[in-house]
Amino acid sequence: MILDPLPPAFFPPSAPTPFSRADFPADFHFGAATAAYQIEGAWQAQGKGPSIWDDFTRRPGRIRHDEHARVATDFFHRYEADLDLAQGLGLTDFRFSAAWARVLPAGTGPVNSRGLDFYDRLVDACLERDLRPWLTVYHWDLPAALQARGGWANRDIVGWLADYAQLLARHLGDRVQHWTVLNEPMVFVGAGHLLGVHAPGRRHLGAFLAAAHHAALAQAEGGRALRAALPAGAQVGTTFSCSYLTPHRPGNAYDEAATRRADALLNRFFVEPALGLGYPTQEMPALRWLLERYQRPGDEARLAFDFDFWGIQNYTREVVKFSPFLPLQWAALVPAKRRNVPYTDMGWEVYPESIYLMLKQFAAYPNAPRLVLTESGAAFPDTLRQGRVADPARRAYLQAALGQALRARREGIRVDGHFAWTLTDNFEWAEGYGPRFGLIHVDYETQQRTVKDSGRWYRDFLGGRVAATRPGVAAEQLMG
Ligand code: FCB
Repeated sequence: MILDPLPPAFFPPSAPTPFSRADFPADFHFGAATAAYQIEGAWQAQGKGPSIWDDFTRRPGRIRHDEHARVATDFFHRYEADLDLAQGLGLTDFRFSAAWARVLPAGTGPVNSRGLDFYDRLVDACLERDLRPWLTVYHWDLPAALQARGGWANRDIVGWLADYAQLLARHLGDRVQHWTVLNEPMVFVGAGHLLGVHAPGRRHLGAFLAAAHHAALAQAEGGRALRAALPAGAQVGTTFSCSYLTPHRPGNAYDEAATRRADALLNRFFVEPALGLGYPTQEMPALRWLLERYQRPGDEARLAFDFDFWGIQNYTREVVKFSPFLPLQWAALVPAKRRNVPYTDMGWEVYPESIYLMLKQFAAYPNAPRLVLTESGAAFPDTLRQGRVADPARRAYLQAALGQALRARREGIRVDGHFAWTLTDNFEWAEGYGPRFGLIHVDYETQQRTVKDSGRWYRDFLGGRVAATRPGVAAEQLMG
């Protein structure tokens, strides 16, 4: 729920955009990002197996209003029309994930060719519309059959994931050039195994530590599997969640140290092993000691992989204070609601400068590859009135996010793309259908799509890349 209205100083809705598309290079990726479970629906169609999210959403009280994504936005059946809209907006790229249990119903073993066919058609449909497809191998929907074998807490997952990645690469690698291995490992590991608020809903320190180490290994092993199976020139990346962190009481030694530890855990934990630097646990000896229980000789080398790009995913900043109650990191986040700052429907502070600050932080690693903002966006309440959704706050956020990416570029940081989260409103995990992030509104009763004002603004910004979308269908018509 948004409780505070945005203060007037926050991007007046009519503010002119102080830059244009021409300020970005011609090959900059202006995309939208999605994830299979949040949009596809068709949860049992054509041989798909169950995933941990199918199971988790059946557990009473886990999801807002006990909602689920068995239908979601029905993307499985409506992908062509949705991609028409993406093209109509003038986007150049479309990021999606493959549902592991659609392709391999049991996670390993026999391939469900009808499931794989769906991604074939989806890739072709992107290409027909001049949208470059970006494929995420794993965006949180583990096959339930693999959870029954221990899921991320079982070290075998490193091989399961690598095999699955390779299968996708062999099948789609002739047409998909951009790949990401994992979506935000710290989120699915932490929220799924320590906090219990995401699937598989565990609250177990050992499961968390095991899952964290296995995800870091799978990230690198998945990268190697993809590179081995893909044609030369394919781009292999992975994504990281991150938030710019500041101490609650600047100058206070406890809060400053807590902020450094939170930074290690939330922002650096999966990045540094990939660079061959090991886990950033220097200031958390207990965590270091516990994590070592799950490591085997040779793992440090296995954790390293030279990704072609890192996907940076940023939504907010966080304020950190020392906490005596959380003995791993001795740090806690101060919720935006208690800080007298504007915040979104997710309770996240509206702070687009975090994008620039995090790009800067990641680019500062000596061997950092090029960066791509693979997710950025904001949830605000929307009202559909007479075929229109006026969403000035989302429009302003998008504009500010692009501005922060441009600011980083102007300082020489290699950031080559921005993916708006997300194309259409969709199922927002534990928050169900509450928060709306889309550039396009979805009426969940009728599945009717309406391009929001933010989407219209973006189409204008992107500058009429397409006059007509598909033969005979004018972009204007698609905009409704
Ligand atoms: C990110 C997830 C994405 C979406 C956004 C709001 O953490 O990667 O699936 O839920 O948050």
